[in-house]
Amino acid sequence: MTVRFVEPSDIEPLRRYFGGLSSQSHYNRFLGATRGVPPSEFERMLRTGEAHHFAVLAEFGAADARTIIGEARYALDPQAQAVEVGISVADDWHGHGVGSALLANLECRAVAIGAAVIFGDALPTNREMLGLARRRGYRLTHPPGDWKLVRFTRDIRIAQDVPCARSSRAVPLLAAAG
Ligand SMILES: CC(C)(COP(=O)(O)OP(=O)(O)OC[C@H]1O[C@@H](n2cnc3c(N)ncnc32)[C@H](O)[C@@H]1OP(=O)(O)O)[C@@H](O)C(=O)NCCC(=O)NCCS
Repeated sequence: MTVRFVEPSDIEPLRRYFGGLSSQSHYNRFLGATRGVPPSEFERMLRTGEAHHFAVLAEFGAADARTIIGEARYALDPQAQAVEVGISVADDWHGHGVGSALLANLECRAVAIGAAVIFGDALPTNREMLGLARRRGYRLTHPPGDWKLVRFTRDIRIAQDVPCARSSRAVPLLAAAG
């Protein structure tokens, strides 16, 4: 599996990917929204890098025949030093560790852009996501003032098993470079 930033040419494959998700996965990924990716979400994914918003694809296969097997978006709040994430994995791939690997990848990316905390929101009925988050050491709470969602949060400053924690050393250099 490789993980890379979304590019404008990914629009059609991405549409097919989201169209292929089961209604349950779609519902869980978009926190209750049924079919159809909200246009605002698509816009944001394709403008990755703008306003601290990023989107990545997880792909499987040889370089000339890659299939999208997952996607994620993440956004940095520089003031709070927090990264918010949302992820999904193609249904056929559930239970094979893709979600875990993708989340680990996002933790790396969050550390690399200077975040101290990574978090996401899930529906309380989403056993898969909450199981995965718990397994990776996330704390489960609620977003402030919202008891309908569960927030999974991890302090990545102190996490020992974030695979690229050392890349945080690059952050002051990047900040200095503007
Ligand atoms: C949540 C999701 C990303 C997990 O991806 P995945 O590739 O299946 O996850 P993994 O295979 O890495 O599983 C990791 C852990 O999740 C948990 N898990 C997976 N399926 C589970 C289930 N049916 N019930 C409870 N826990 C489950 C387990 O703790 C598992 O650990 P294990 O290796 O000991 O089994 C995937 O189910 C998905 O895309 N769901 C739809 C979108 C979504 O819910 N996004 C989250 C909201 S942002």
